[in-house]
Amino acid sequence: MTSISRRPLVGGNWKMHMVGTEARELSRELVARLDQPAAEVVLFPSPPLLPTVAEVLAGSPLAWGGQDIHVEDAGAYTGDVSGPQLADAGCTWALCGHSERRRDHGESDALVGQKALAANRNGLTPLICLGETLSERQNGDTFAVLERQLNGALAGRPDPFALAYEPVWAIGTGETATPEIAQEAHRFLRETLADLIGEAAAGAKRILYGGSANPQNVADLIALPDVDGFLVGGASLDPEKFSTMIGCCGEAA
Ligand code: 13P
Repeated sequence: MTSISRRPLVGGNWKMHMVGTEARELSRELVARLDQPAAEVVLFPSPPLLPTVAEVLAGSPLAWGGQDIHVEDAGAYTGDVSGPQLADAGCTWALCGHSERRRDHGESDALVGQKALAANRNGLTPLICLGETLSERQNGDTFAVLERQLNGALAGRPDPFALAYEPVWAIGTGETATPEIAQEAHRFLRETLADLIGEAAAGAKRILYGGSANPQNVADLIALPDVDGFLVGGASLDPEKFSTMIGCCGEAA
């Protein structure tokens, strides 16, 4: 199932960091360093930073997206961001179901599935995040959790989409999944995906790894047959680290 070549994809999830001047500077640095990136690259800034990032990235090979998307296209939903608003800001991607939103905003598997459809409806590609917590792993529930999250996210059969396996215990902790753990989870996701959408379609989907990815560990991870790139948090705020990590994707290809 690994014979299909998948172009590596690297996302930079800026989370709730930076203000406009910092976002402009980081965007400029990245545009300067990544004129011919070895992977498809997409940045995920907070909503107020999107116009600044869009202005700097316009005409570059770098794309940008939203960190979240509401299931409705408009309405009385204070504090939320809609698909049309993201599309209007030039976004081409939207994160769906990041574990910090599942944890802090109670997002269910079914809601994540509706968000993926809202993204597609507005011309955006959802990058659907999933992954087990430490206690779920310790209890031997990892595969059951991943299967449940995937079934929920794909219930409405969104397309296109990409997946990001982000074990919660690895996010922001400095504790990265070992290559064995990452490959086992990614392989499981691809096999489960094949049951849902067919083997050929599953073989063409990108499955990113996220969780303390850094310049020291990405080479071993991108070499794995079912790892197709990275969703990077902390290291994506450092232009040197982030561009180095993108360069590693090219060396593996
Ligand atoms: P870190 O790279 O900071 O661990 O964050 C990962 C993440 O949550 C990306 O979405």
